Formats: sequence, structure tokens, C-alpha cells
Amino acid sequence: MHITPETLFETRRHFLKLGAGALVSSTAISQLLAELPQDMSLSYTPDINLQKLSSNTFEQITNYVNFYEFSTDKTAPVKLSQKMKTTPWSVGLSGEINKKQTLEVDELIAKFGLEERIYRFRCVEGWSMVVPWIGFPLYKLLDYLEPNSKAKYVKFTTKHDPSIFPDQAKGIFSSINYPYVEGLRMDEARHPLTFIAVGMYGKRLLPQNGAPIRLVVPWKYGFKSIKSLDKIELVESEPLNTWQEQNPKEYGFYANVNPAVDHPRWTQAKERLLGKLTKQDTLPFNGYEKEVASLYAGMDLRKFF
Ligand code: MTE
Repeated sequence: MHITPETLFETRRHFLKLGAGALVSSTAISQLLAELPQDMSLSYTPDINLQKLSSNTFEQITNYVNFYEFSTDKTAPVKLSQKMKTTPWSVGLSGEINKKQTLEVDELIAKFGLEERIYRFRCVEGWSMVVPWIGFPLYKLLDYLEPNSKAKYVKFTTKHDPSIFPDQAKGIFSSINYPYVEGLRMDEARHPLTFIAVGMYGKRLLPQNGAPIRLVVPWKYGFKSIKSLDKIELVESEPLNTWQEQNPKEYGFYANVNPAVDHPRWTQAKERLLGKLTKQDTLPFNGYEKEVASLYAGMDLRKFF
């Protein structure tokens, strides 16, 4: 993470509030640092963009979202999420690993560094976009945690906090069961394309896109890319993911983008790229077939949808 001249200026201003030359206790210093306006910009290695994808605009990506914890509407979460406090934010790392611990988002960034990944993103509903994510590949974190031989799947959980998320506060009247859960098989989780995002377009994620930290699995339908992570657990058996639990006839565990297998209520052969009026063909594995098809060799992808 880099420090901008503005941040340094703000830091000095905060310290000056105490009076020049005053002796400052270390608790007072951490309190002052915590009050600092968060530096939203991130430093990262740019993607070489081999596939020459052209990204959707920041406005498009941040104004058309799915975030049920706020609302089932596509635009309402934008307003409803603006007061969400995303610092400090820690992620619990547990289960079948040697190094169980809790880490702050900034500690994760410091440990694993940041790079850009310009990825296609295809929602199961039939819309798509291209996003210049910033983050680190999940395998770096998994390697660091030292999984044991019982670790067969990774289970991801979104934060449960009704004081942040109005739909969670509705209890039995919530739109879906919370907390939102997702899962990946270990080889999927360790695939170099599987990404933990903390930003996009050079800045930290905005709340509506799953701040401060989310999963991105570009060859799977967007619902696998779980937002605002609270926990990552390594587990022995396949986790029951939220949408499969909600409606097992329509949503499975794998959710690989597949134009040949329609959703029971609509075709998956085409998609509408945000900002475009006409539809385009959906690609097998969302355009990442070469990289990931071998993960599913011998599996009937109609059955494991
Ligand atoms: N994660 C949580 N916690 N809650 C959600 O409602 N929606 C999913 C996924 N992750 C969702 C979530 C769906 S259906 C999609 S398509 C993507 O987030 C949307 O990501 P975006 O809003 O950043 O485009």
C-alpha cells in the first residue's frame, strides 16, 4: 500500500493538534492513526491484459450490483452501503490448517502484495462485465496457512452483522438465509486464476462491491464470488453454498459458466455486457476454458452444475 502526500499531510495535521513538541503516548498515537482518513489508493502490479479485454467503466461496475445483505435491488445497495465501516476489518482463518489465526485486511495486503487482474465477470442472471480487480491469488494465502491432509474444500463466509446489513436485520423475513456462504474444491481454490480482491481501478473496493475483501472466481457464475469476507475455513466436506441451499434445482455447488446448460428459467447461451444494447455469446468457462477445463475432466457438467 502506498502513502500519498495527502495522507502524510493529514498525519502531520493530526499530530500537530496535540501541540508541537508534546510527549505523545503510544496509545494516543494509535488512536490518532485510527482516526486518519483511510488512504483509498493502492499500489499494485498492472495486468498485462493478454486477452486485450476492455474494462467496463468504474461507474458501471459500482452502480449495478447484487448484494442481498443490503437489498435485492440492483441499485439500492449503492446508497444503503455508503455508511458501512470497512476498517478495521479482520478475516478469521481456521479449520484444517496449521496456522489458525485472524488477520487484518492490511496485514494480508502487506504479506501477499497486490496485482491487477482484468477479468470477465458473468452473473447467472445473464448480464456480464469486465472488471480490473486488484488483490492477490488465493493460493498465496492457502500456502501460507499450511493446510493439512484433511483440507479438501475451502468454505467462505460473509460477515453477519445486522447493524451493517439491513436485510440480515429482518430475521425470518430476510430474502435469503444468512450468513452468505460459498465454497470451492481445493484444486479450484488453488488455481492461479482464483483471486482475493481488495480493490479495483486502483482504489479500495467500494462497499457495494463487497468491501473490504471478496472472492473472485472468473470462470464461475458471479454468485460464487462472495463479498465482504468474514471467515475462510479449510474443511473436509463440500460446503452447502447459499444459492444451492435456497434453490437446489436451479443452483449447484460448481456453477461453472456454461452456455450449453440453460438455467431452468432462461437461456445461458447469451449475455448482456453492461453498457451494451445487444447480447453477446457466452463463452464456455467464461472464456477461461483453456486454463480450467482440466479441473473437471471426466465430470458430467450437466449433473455437477
Ligand atoms: N456476496 C454476498 N455476500 N451477497 C450477495 O448478495 N451476490 C453475488 C456475489 N456475491 C452476493 C455476493 C452475486 S449473485 C453476484 S452476480 C456478484 O456478487 C455481484 O458482484 P458485484 O455486485 O460486485 O457485481
